Amino acid sequence: MSKIILGISAYYHDSSAALIIDGEIIEAVHEERFTRIKHDHSFPKRSVGYILDKSSLKLSDIDAVVFYEKPYLKFERLLETYHEFAPKGFQSFSSAMPVWLKEKVFMTGNIKKELEGFGHSEKIRLYFSEHHLSHAASAFFPSPFDEAAILTIDGVGERATSLIGFGKGNSIEVLRELNFPHSVGLLYSAFTYFCGFKVNSGEYKLMGLAPYGDPDSERTKNYEKLIREFLVEIKEDGSILLNMDYFDYTTGLKMIHEAKWEKLFGLKIKSDKVEYSQQYMDLSLSIQRVTEEIVMNMARQAKELTGSDNLVLAGGVALNSVANGKILSSGLFKKMWIQPASGDAGGSVGAALAQYYIGFSGERKFDPSEPDSMKGAFLGPEYSDDQIILTLKRYGVKYRKYDSLEELASFTARLLNEGNIIGWFQGRMEYGPRALGNRSILGDARRADMQKRMNLKIKYREGFRPFAPSVLEEDIQDFFEIDVPSPYMLFVIPVTKKRRNSIPEGYFKRELYERLYHERSDIPAVTHIDYSARIQSVSKKTNLKYWTVINEFKKLTGYGVIVNTSFNVRGEPIVATPSDAFSCFMRTEMDYLVMGSYLLDKKDMIGLDRALFNTEFGSD
Ligand SMILES: [Fe+2]
Repeated sequence: MSKIILGISAYYHDSSAALIIDGEIIEAVHEERFTRIKHDHSFPKRSVGYILDKSSLKLSDIDAVVFYEKPYLKFERLLETYHEFAPKGFQSFSSAMPVWLKEKVFMTGNIKKELEGFGHSEKIRLYFSEHHLSHAASAFFPSPFDEAAILTIDGVGERATSLIGFGKGNSIEVLRELNFPHSVGLLYSAFTYFCGFKVNSGEYKLMGLAPYGDPDSERTKNYEKLIREFLVEIKEDGSILLNMDYFDYTTGLKMIHEAKWEKLFGLKIKSDKVEYSQQYMDLSLSIQRVTEEIVMNMARQAKELTGSDNLVLAGGVALNSVANGKILSSGLFKKMWIQPASGDAGGSVGAALAQYYIGFSGERKFDPSEPDSMKGAFLGPEYSDDQIILTLKRYGVKYRKYDSLEELASFTARLLNEGNIIGWFQGRMEYGPRALGNRSILGDARRADMQKRMNLKIKYREGFRPFAPSVLEEDIQDFFEIDVPSPYMLFVIPVTKKRRNSIPEGYFKRELYERLYHERSDIPAVTHIDYSARIQSVSKKTNLKYWTVINEFKKLTGYGVIVNTSFNVRGEPIVATPSDAFSCFMRTEMDYLVMGSYLLDKKDMIGLDRALFNTEFGSD
């Protein structure tokens, strides 16, 4: 029985759409990449339009449109929260209500109306998955396992904030749920907010700040003690209880009761006027440690309840690659797989897969020669050389064409070895928040100045995080303490001891950026201060072009590893089209741009009015 299913995630954060045909993931794309609005949460019109066009499908060909959560359950949760906390909650309730009434409660009608734009609507069969079931389905069904323990953790869905389940064949059994307001995701977001980052998008920055915390200081230990004593009760069974006296997200419009937090930690909430002092770094480390403990408890509980040797993860907290690395190194499970689009954007794939396997009892087939069913997360639009050349001709720029991949890759590797920063635009766009070698900016990981140059001249930020390495899958153990692939940049793992340089005395007393630029290993641009790295292993099978560049770089230098950062500047989504890529190339100090078979040298762009490509940069 053939089934064509369209999955939709929208109206909260990071909208996306996905097409699943008979269980195979054909397309998956974030709306922000088309609209150029970062974290765009509107109905994914452009994504749906792209999917239908690309697959030559009409809306009437679709057997099911599946939304990633149940709006009515979410609405009920909001109502109950209001009653529980009334009258204190009236302000947030009354502010939230008009939005809910307009967008969420009448969502069925809204979605149908949006879909009508693509054709006749009578045949639309609209289904609703549940938020955590969508996450669970996105974690289990594309994984390489026939059976696995499932753990999903995020801020909140309808009611659940995390779920433990068991996946086998085409079924998912829900074993445990933790419910709102007790949420690991919201606890972490509360610290994200207190430390001056944006909730829902700045969490990875908090994670990046944590290694600058002094692990042995009395202050760090004290912060950790205060968190456990006053904010969260951690239970052995993997559940938690938050002390709601300190949190404001149920009743107010803020995450936390700021005055109470400031008093508790003896620290002002971080604002733009305040520098990142050691206190914030120690606090980041404390909450990271607490989060790791909770996540480990949940993983242990999942192991106990399922007895499985395999674990799959999804939900926003599964993007905490440091915690993932800890579960992996604990050896609790023999194998682990994490959905690359673990945030809510992954809900479109998950909802569609849940409908196919659970709703339609689809048979689960898996090709054992493939690492998983995500196709390396290369599930978005691609542009042929013919399309790329149209863009280049439009700007009338000089370019060089390479007909053989070997030649293109070996020249690119030579340029990298010479210290150039290169935009690399190839094949299908990535699904999920990370660029994995198709919309990436590349550099030489051995160069101590690479991190600073990329931050200041490309990303226009003084980031305190080093960049991530892309390493040949075959060479992963030569550089990092890991013996399994990490294709989606979702494990933070230490650099091997033989590559490390020692930390000088009095290190934690130095300024943040002085510490950042201390050379910690022979691949300093990708080694964090605690010797860890957020690694991506590159396989010949899923990305031959990218693998060949790194391999050519290895032939030249002996290093099968390079720097990979997403192809965008701060505040912008990752580039989608050749025009986006060219424009980003022109607005930054990238030295070369490789698109398809074409290579562009910035030196040849003299005379082109760079002001044409200027836009306002965002704030994060
Ligand atoms: Fe979620």
